[in-house]
Amino acid sequence: MHFIPEALDSYVVNHSEKEPELLQQLNRETYQKILQPRMLSGHYQGRVLSMISKLINPKNILEIGTYTGYSAICLAEGIQKEGELHTIDINEELEDFQRKYFDLSPYGKNIYQHIGDATSIIPSLDMKFDLVFIDADKPNYPTYFELVINKMNSGGVILSDNVLWNGKVIEKVDDDDLSTKALLSYNKLLTEDKRIESVLLPIRDGLTISRVL
Ligand SMILES: C[S@@+](CC[C@H](N)C(=O)[O-])C[C@H]1O[C@@H](n2cnc3c(N)ncnc32)[C@H](O)[C@@H]1O
Repeated sequence: MHFIPEALDSYVVNHSEKEPELLQQLNRETYQKILQPRMLSGHYQGRVLSMISKLINPKNILEIGTYTGYSAICLAEGIQKEGELHTIDINEELEDFQRKYFDLSPYGKNIYQHIGDATSIIPSLDMKFDLVFIDADKPNYPTYFELVINKMNSGGVILSDNVLWNGKVIEKVDDDDLSTKALLSYNKLLTEDKRIESVLLPIRDGLTISRVL
């Protein structure tokens, strides 16, 4: 879904950073070989993630929902030299694909993959984060937030993807639509929780930036 007219959307993309060659290759191979390629962040959002990470220059990053590794590499572009990016995905079939691209990037030694359910893995990570990207199953967003909030350094940033859910957040919600219901609660939580301040950006499918106070 385009939240601004398609022509203006193209103008925005054409006046932003180009997509690096490695990410173009990752994008192509995802579309050729992997199911549901539209899950990948893609050129414009990837450059936004990269820019945010470079502005923060984080030591430790957590990503919840790796898929084929596109956004992980974008986030790693801003990481400190000795920093660690921990990324979690429940789909073990994606592990080798992710590793191939992580090792082709300059950040292979910084990126640690975790395979399994993020709700179990996050509590086992004994470290603090400067940047977290939440981009996995929507019904668990409120749980992910509660699991990461006490692992954030002060001034750290939590990015939450797909918060507009293709516009469904302002439509009538079906009783069995657990993802939209969860996102409605989650978006409310992000505006009301006193531990953070948030801005929802209408980028792609909606990206909220929350700064930890
Ligand atoms: C939207 S995709 C991530 C896209 C990726 N961040 C990007 O921008 O390229 C969501 C991913 O979350 C993973 N996922 C879903 N439920 C999960 C869970 N409970 N724990 C960990 N990963 C999960 C899926 O396997 C999928 O690869």
